[in-house]
Amino acid sequence: MKFPQIIQGGMGAGVSDWRLARSVSSQGQIGVVSGVALDLILTRRLQLGDPGGHMQRALKAFPDQSVARRIIERYFIDGGKPSDQPFARKPMVGHKSNRFLEQLMVASGFAEVFLAKEGHDGVVGINFLQKIQAPLLPTLYGAMLAGINIVLVGAGIPLEIPEVLEAFSHNEPAQLKLYVRDAPRGQSYESSFDPTSPFDTPFPAPPRPYFFPIVSSATLAGLLVKKCKGPVDGLIVEGPLAGGHNAPPRGKTVLSPEGEPLYGDRDAIDLPAIKALGLPFFLAGSYSSPARLQEACSAGATGIQVGTLFAFCEESGLAEEIKREAIADCRRGTQSVFTDPIASPTGFPFKVLSIADSLSEADVYEERSRNCDLGYLREAYLRADGTPAWRCSAENQETYVRHGGKLEDTVGRKCLCNGLMANIGLPQVRRDKTLERPLVTCGDDLSGITRILGPDRSSYRSSDVLDYLLTKES
Ligand SMILES: Cc1cc2nc3c(=O)[nH]c(=O)nc-3n(C[C@H](O)[C@H](O)[C@H](O)COP(=O)(O)O)c2cc1C
Repeated sequence: MKFPQIIQGGMGAGVSDWRLARSVSSQGQIGVVSGVALDLILTRRLQLGDPGGHMQRALKAFPDQSVARRIIERYFIDGGKPSDQPFARKPMVGHKSNRFLEQLMVASGFAEVFLAKEGHDGVVGINFLQKIQAPLLPTLYGAMLAGINIVLVGAGIPLEIPEVLEAFSHNEPAQLKLYVRDAPRGQSYESSFDPTSPFDTPFPAPPRPYFFPIVSSATLAGLLVKKCKGPVDGLIVEGPLAGGHNAPPRGKTVLSPEGEPLYGDRDAIDLPAIKALGLPFFLAGSYSSPARLQEACSAGATGIQVGTLFAFCEESGLAEEIKREAIADCRRGTQSVFTDPIASPTGFPFKVLSIADSLSEADVYEERSRNCDLGYLREAYLRADGTPAWRCSAENQETYVRHGGKLEDTVGRKCLCNGLMANIGLPQVRRDKTLERPLVTCGDDLSGITRILGPDRSSYRSSDVLDYLLTKES
């Protein structure tokens, strides 16, 4: 297949939602939905009254209507929940299967992709983080049922994904190795999913999508191409200037005086070695200008993956007030992005955009009482009796230590799960009626925003981003 030049990067959670991906894909480029926490997002959209009826329309196309009805009955609130009432809780995702939760995850992956693909023939991808292990398989199967074209996986070493795609395209069970902290050598754990088990009648086997791992080095790219038991169809090559999580620097992390990880020569990506692998590849991380696109193509890339410019466009899932504030900061030249080495419970550096009244601000962070009620970034650990359980370094410190974690590992950790839900207008309401605060990420280069806006405008669309990127500079 000949791929277009622009991939709109997957942006979790819910920033690159079906609306953004559909708009990009229907313009002939590659739109990517985020696969992160789709089960939670679906239940919250339904509790807000499902404006436009999109979730219910997608669920009506789901191949098991009794499951679709059960989800709607359980979560849909006509007219939306009162704004001072909390969202209903949903079971947290762990390694043990729960029939309803599996159904919900499959249906949510299906719904997001169904909507992203609705009404056009363009190519749509879905993005997962390998680190978020437990929900990946059922959500991916749901996306495949809706005909997803490309599966993009970063934040880890996604060696097993080609086998998973192959298995699901025959409706066969698949497994992912579950990383369990401090597990004894030789002991292995897995998260598994059997597509036939949560449903009364098996669905027709879905087609196998392409697989694009997201890598930050030629070594990892080479390893995946060599070791994956199945095809790697393309590569996203992402450097440390990209929004979201970044790969840590090679070797021991050294921080700048401001406290950001310092990247050096060892982190430079060997593009000739990437090119020598003979696969289509896309460069990501501050490649969002026409000149950088040309540069990428001159290095042998098919094109670029762009996140930040799409994150603040009208179709993205970010809350309107966040887009407005970020765009106003860009106009004033006061925008500031910090690569926080410890904020994310995953342990990966995470880029944070300074936004007033959000968790980027120390006082807002200090005020929040720590708890873990969503649990997507928890890590598996072994209890004293040898069974796996889950904990999050951003949860209440006493609880974390009771779960065998080290107190020092909790310092500076931020609850990304709740922050990311607040980013997309789905904040939880706490017992004292306060709202969870946002935690916004973006890449280091925001300069394209003011270029796209020109002197007068205060917002822009995904088509403006594409026009800007694809205009040949004279
Ligand atoms: C708001 C935002 C959220 C992101 N979330 C994810 C994610 O969940 N998974 C992922 O692989 N990449 C994520 N990214 C990275 C993008 O997919 C893309 O590779 C990156 O933004 C490209 O660099 P740029 O921001 O300089 O355009 C995110 C980026 C942004 C701006």
